[in-house]
Amino acid sequence: MNVAMPASGVVPPSEEFVAQANVDLATYNAMYERSVTDPEGFWAEQAERLDWITRPTTIKNTCFDFGRVSIKWFEDGFLNVAVNCVDRHLATRGDQTAILFEPDDPEAPARHITYNELSDKVNRMANVLLSQGVMRGDRVVIYLPMIPEAAYAMLACARIGAIHSVVFAGFSPDALANRINDCGAKIVITADTAPRGGRRTALKSNTDAALLHCSDKVRCLVVKHTGDQTSWVDGRDVDLNYLMSHAAPDCPPRPMNAEDPLFILYTSGSTGKPKGVVHTSGGYLTYAALTHEVVFDYHEGDVYWCTADVGWVTGHTYIVYGPLANGATTVMFEGVPTYPDASRFWQVVEKHKVNQFYTAPTALRALMGQGDEFVEKCDLSSLRLLGTVGEPINPEAWNWYNEKVGQGRCPIVDTWWQTETGGHLLTPIPGAHATKPGSAMKPFFGVQTVVLDATTGEEITERPAEGVLALKDSWPGQMRTVWGDHERFEATYFQQYKGHYFSGDGCRADADGDLWITGRVDDVINVSGHRMGTAEVESALVAHHKVAEAAVVGYPHAVKGQGIYCYVTLMNDVEPSDELVKELRAWVRNEIGPIASPDLVQWAPGLPKTRSGKIMRRILRKIAENDYGALGDTSTLADPSVVDDLIENRKNRD
Ligand code: WTA
Repeated sequence: MNVAMPASGVVPPSEEFVAQANVDLATYNAMYERSVTDPEGFWAEQAERLDWITRPTTIKNTCFDFGRVSIKWFEDGFLNVAVNCVDRHLATRGDQTAILFEPDDPEAPARHITYNELSDKVNRMANVLLSQGVMRGDRVVIYLPMIPEAAYAMLACARIGAIHSVVFAGFSPDALANRINDCGAKIVITADTAPRGGRRTALKSNTDAALLHCSDKVRCLVVKHTGDQTSWVDGRDVDLNYLMSHAAPDCPPRPMNAEDPLFILYTSGSTGKPKGVVHTSGGYLTYAALTHEVVFDYHEGDVYWCTADVGWVTGHTYIVYGPLANGATTVMFEGVPTYPDASRFWQVVEKHKVNQFYTAPTALRALMGQGDEFVEKCDLSSLRLLGTVGEPINPEAWNWYNEKVGQGRCPIVDTWWQTETGGHLLTPIPGAHATKPGSAMKPFFGVQTVVLDATTGEEITERPAEGVLALKDSWPGQMRTVWGDHERFEATYFQQYKGHYFSGDGCRADADGDLWITGRVDDVINVSGHRMGTAEVESALVAHHKVAEAAVVGYPHAVKGQGIYCYVTLMNDVEPSDELVKELRAWVRNEIGPIASPDLVQWAPGLPKTRSGKIMRRILRKIAENDYGALGDTSTLADPSVVDDLIENRKNRD
């Protein structure tokens, strides 16, 4: 195979791809220009891709001024998101597969859920929610694995105007309880157990444990998925399958204002507890549908697969809302890339003739390490486009993806975005831009990026440049507020660099002006593409009775991108031991979930602190990175000798 990879490291799309692409370079340039010079006109036109009950006439009403931040799009429009994702497709593609469900067990049959069937399920579930007393604006927590019922539940909420909050099924009972309580949910929807990689997670019993910490008014709707035995609390627990089979198959959709909340999704920040990111209806869906079509070069009839979990924003926008708004066939995969072996992804691509494939660099790095035979033995000729998301992709993984998976034929879109942004903000447009391995390249339509000097906050206009990434103006998919705490929303995103939305990411603009994300500049780490606040792991650790103090930082990890490095100071009378490391790992898994499991634990007799008692994380990061030669200024340390001890006993020596 002759793989196009010029010496410059710039990879242009093939002529063949460009010829069939939705958006070529001239179109991108013209549309981008219009989107920033005439945002009202541009987005009014784009909103036409949705079916409105009342068309919006006020398009954009946004203010980024600290103290007065307010973001509204299409504010006088009315629509129903579920109608846009389901009903409006029934006349033309009722028998087309909407959701292609591939179970964890490769021997179990895949399920092709048509738009007609999706409609039936969503309507029935909506009626069940109504019968349980769920009303417009009420919150429904969804704690489900990657099964079609998760999409039914999201769309059922949208149909009746309830606000869903999906909690990743890998989160612990504590994490689930915190989210149920923070948003004041009336209902939690869960399943008996969740098979994944051949093992089962006991979701119902996790939910039972969580509900011990919640109001006794919260009802629990249970999907019988595996049929495993679970406990049952009469009066609280409800058999969802049974009620759905007895519910009416039609439920009138509720007309919703464009700015009515569609969902809350909790995400980690640098401080405090996770924030409930609020997305609304009209702008979010417009942005989800447009980005899905343009960035993945989606064409009618394509089979599209995003391997994310519905518990994260990627699953919301690019498994459920974007693809279904466009009438696509979206693959929903219950399993993991390495079960039963490292060819599972590629077998699924072959089996379902997938055209677009979207995954995280961490999965690629894990699969790359298993050897090429797993990918080479599969027929991947259906693939036309590849995508990545969640963390910077290293050139080795990029090249492997390009050569082994895309066979040099498929453009790779490296999409940078966040829970807060609702959809892609930076990405190459596959039929328009040559790509550079590791670069998220260009702003999407309507996105005005600026590189700011991290210290002065001044915009750096010359190129190349290095600084932090901020946004100058709003786009329709932007989050509107933090649930119940608008002040926190302003303080987190608009206070540090006035007049801008601050992403929390560092970035580099190269001589061509193309953008490279360099990673978080705050205390958020990115572990296997999962975003985590180091403060959350620290508070889990100090909640253990043997721990006096803890500081957590990220360090480079070959597969996960970043690993979790914990400095732990024990209580006076406690002896450190390998057993205790295991105990603390299990403790954190239990407090937050397996994704937060510490990779390295170093016993720290003391932590480097300033005289005012502030932990100097910069130093801890350097030691964790095994880069202790350049610790910078340590003169403000209260006790410089603690640093020598930490260096001597450092755990990462790579
Ligand atoms: C990181 C996931 C580099 C970034 C959609 C961001 C990326 C955080 C990329 C958001 C990318 C996401 N290249 N870094 N293509 N995509 N990130 O909220 O640090 O789970 O701020 O949203 O992931 O993570 P979140």
